[in-house]
Formats: sequence, structure tokens, C-alpha cells
Amino acid sequence: MTTSTPPRRLFIKTHGCQMNVYDSERIADVLAPLGYRLTDDVESADMIVLNTCHIREKATEKVYSELGRLKAIKARRAEEGDKMIIAVAGCVAQAEGEEIMIRQPAVDLVVGPQSYHRLPELIAKGHRARGDSLAADFEPQAKFDALPVSHDGTGVTAFLTVQEGCDKFCTFCVVPYTRGAEYSRPSTAIEAEARALAARGVREVTLLGQNVNAYVDQDGGGLAVLIRRLAKIPGLDRIRYTTSHPRDMNAELISAHGEVEALMPFLHLPVQSGSDRLLKAMNRGHTTESYLRIIEEVRAARRDIAISGDFIVGFPGERDSDFEATLDLVREVRHAGAFSFKYSRRPGTPAAAMGGQIDEAVKDERLQRLQALLSEQQSAFNASQIGRTVPVLLERHGRHPGQLIGRSPYLQGVHCSAPEAMIGAIVPVAISAASLNSLTGELALETA
Ligand code: SAH
Ligand code: SF4
Ligand code: F3S
Repeated sequence: MTTSTPPRRLFIKTHGCQMNVYDSERIADVLAPLGYRLTDDVESADMIVLNTCHIREKATEKVYSELGRLKAIKARRAEEGDKMIIAVAGCVAQAEGEEIMIRQPAVDLVVGPQSYHRLPELIAKGHRARGDSLAADFEPQAKFDALPVSHDGTGVTAFLTVQEGCDKFCTFCVVPYTRGAEYSRPSTAIEAEARALAARGVREVTLLGQNVNAYVDQDGGGLAVLIRRLAKIPGLDRIRYTTSHPRDMNAELISAHGEVEALMPFLHLPVQSGSDRLLKAMNRGHTTESYLRIIEEVRAARRDIAISGDFIVGFPGERDSDFEATLDLVREVRHAGAFSFKYSRRPGTPAAAMGGQIDEAVKDERLQRLQALLSEQQSAFNASQIGRTVPVLLERHGRHPGQLIGRSPYLQGVHCSAPEAMIGAIVPVAISAASLNSLTGELALETA
């Protein structure tokens, strides 16, 4: 499979969610047999892949400004007699394929999330023969069957996509249009991939899906069944999953949180708003009450579970009272962390055409108030770890000599002094300090 020509340099820039991170790794794997090796230096790359995100307007616009910069690099390289291929992948590629080719002629090929296995063929077919260089279809099974997974990666944590796509059609969201219908990979393929990851030293795996808890295997088993199966793999000590939807948070998955030791006590469960009127307009398919009931049940199954979520402020028609209801919900749940966004009007989605679009200034003010409250909760949660000894998976070097960085069960970054040989170990760390974004502590091996 190796080529005799010198290695070609591949530069990948990834935007968006963890599924894009996973996909970027697969893109590197599928291009490796063509002689492409990853580089950090964009200027000298032979091929550039922009793996893009379409979720908010800003994310999309970023793609076009980055392409402008890449065009200049490509022109400079051409003067030196070097060829450089520019490929756009990801959700913008899926949503705006044709438009990208028109707006930025320096782009050689556009490839949607379901067509990465076709990259070698697209590259071979060459340059800008429209149609050949534009691949944006929905064949998730073909994608996963044909994409290799390298066995020589490094790192003690890994993402593993188990489900892709979304059938929920929240009225604000582009994902059902960019990632297609819900599709679950066969559990046999997932288990094989997880075993390969464990064999190369991965200790923690995060199962990914746009609606990961809608996962259903070929025999009708849900995410809980899959998690129990993966938890048996020797060496795989920690399992996480993201992102889940309240509608698919079933009793089986909730009990797994109380029973499967490897399943980390952390649940990212986006609720978006605390107003039932808005949840309905968003087509979320759940109410604040049903969401709060889930939180209560999950906490009953696993007392120390930490909750995080996503929120949108300034959805069309959001009144002060709706926003206050969101703040009330946040106060009631007490989050360990959360992401919050200003509503962004996405062309083609139902909410974009709704009346009552909210002023930018109002969105700004609401976002600030919500983020202040969420930060306060996150700081309080982190501070609550001071004085405790927590198991930390040591992942990499820190900024200071002799310092390593790891993760607590709650996904908090933890800094501590430890020898490099401990990378990949799960060690007890006595937490002595906390900030908004991380914890600091000392190895507590003697008390282990
Ligand atoms: N499938 C997941 C995540 C989808 S995208 C879920 O259902 O929760 C991640 C987050 O981006 C969403 O949870 C939502 O909070 C935010 N988001 C999606 N579309 C948006 C839009 N048009 N404007 C602002 N935020 C948006
Ligand atoms: Fe988007 Fe809603 Fe699907 Fe999540 S559940 S991906 S927010 S449409
Ligand atoms: Fe963005 Fe696509 Fe992920 S729109 S959030 S990269 S699914």
C-alpha cells in the first residue's frame, strides 16, 4: 500500500463538534495509503482539508475567510511551481457545496460527511471537473464500512462515532440537513473499533452521535446495551457519550449510570430553554417538566452525577418571561458546566422564517446574564472538589516542567506534578485548588 514517492503533506483544520474531530482522523487514515502524512505547517502542505461547521452563521462565515487566506498561500506555492489541493469537508460542504465552488474558485474539491471514503477517488479524478469534485450524498453505512481506522494513533482518550444524523428537526437547527437521517453503526463494528483502541493504549472512549442516545443496534439493543458490552473490554476503563436528547433518555440508560462502573458520572443533556412555550416552538418534543424528571431520575440512579447542557437565547418570540424561566431552570438544576449560544438564523430552517426575531442587543444582554449564572455554577462545582481525592486519567504534558494534565470523572482538566511515565494511568489526586476551567492537586498514591 505504501508509495515510493516522498510523503505528501496533509494539513487538516477542524471546526465544529467532536464528530468532525473523529471524521478528521478518519480522513487522515483514508489518505495515508496515498502517501499523505499529517503536518502542522499549512504553508508547506500539499493538501489542505477544511473540516467545517454550519451550525451558526459565524462558523460558516469563518470558512470563507479562511479560504481567502488559503487561496493566497496556494497562489504563492503555484509561483514556486508547487501544487496544493484545497478540499472543503464537513457540514458547510454538505449544505453549500455548489456555492463554495462558485464563491471560492481556489477550492479543488468539496466532500460531505458521508463521502469521505471517496476522497482518494475524488483526488485521483483531479481538478475542478464539476460533479466529479463535488460529493455530497447520504450513505452512512458505505462511509463507515469503507473508512479505515489506524491502529497506530497516540493518546489515551479517543472519540468513537456510533450514531450519525438526526430525525428530530428542531426548528432552529441545520444538522438534520447536513448529516442526514439517524443511522446507527452495527455494534459488532463498534466493539471491534473499541478493542483496537484499547489495544493501542486508549483508556477512555467517548461514544459520539448527534443523538447518541437514539442509538439502536442491529438486534434492537439501545445505547445502554452497547455501553455494557464495551465496559467489558479489558483496558477500557472509562466510557462517556455525547450528545444526548431528552426524548431518548430511557430507563435502561438511566439505570446504566447507576450500575456500570466504567460509565463516567457526567451527563451532557441539552435542554435549550426553560420555557415550555419556546420548547414547543423549537419542536424539541419535551417539556421543562419531562426534562427535570429525567434529571431527578438520573440523580437517583447515580447521586454524584454532574449535569451539563446547551442553551439558546433569543429564539424568535422569546419574551423576558421566557428567558427568566430559563434562568429559573438553570438555578434549579445546578450545572457543572454548559454551552450557551445566541440564536443564529439559519437559512432553510423553519425558525428563520418565524416572526418575532430578537434584536442582537437583547440577545447579547441575555447571553451575558445566562453565562454569568452558568459560570457561577461551574466555579461552585469545581470548588466543591477541593479537599477531595479524585481518580484522574493522566493524558499529556502540562505547560510547566514536571506537570501533567489529566481529566477527572467530571471531565474537569486536572493539573498535577507527576512523572511522564504515568501518562495513561488513572491515579488518585488530592484536589487543592479550583478555578472556572480546571483543578489543581497533588498525587495521592500512598493513600490509594
Ligand atoms: N444534537 C445535539 C447538538 C446539536 S448542535 C442536541 O440535540 O442537543 C449543538 C448545539 O448548538 C445545540 O444544542 C444548540 O444549543 C446549538 N445550536 C444549534 N442550532 C443553533 C442555532 N441556529 N443558533 C444557535 N445555537 C444553535
Ligand atoms: Fe439539531 Fe435538534 Fe437534532 Fe440536536 S436534536 S441535532 S438540536 S435538530
Ligand atoms: Fe457543526 Fe456539523 Fe457538528 S454543523 S456542530 S460540525 S454536526
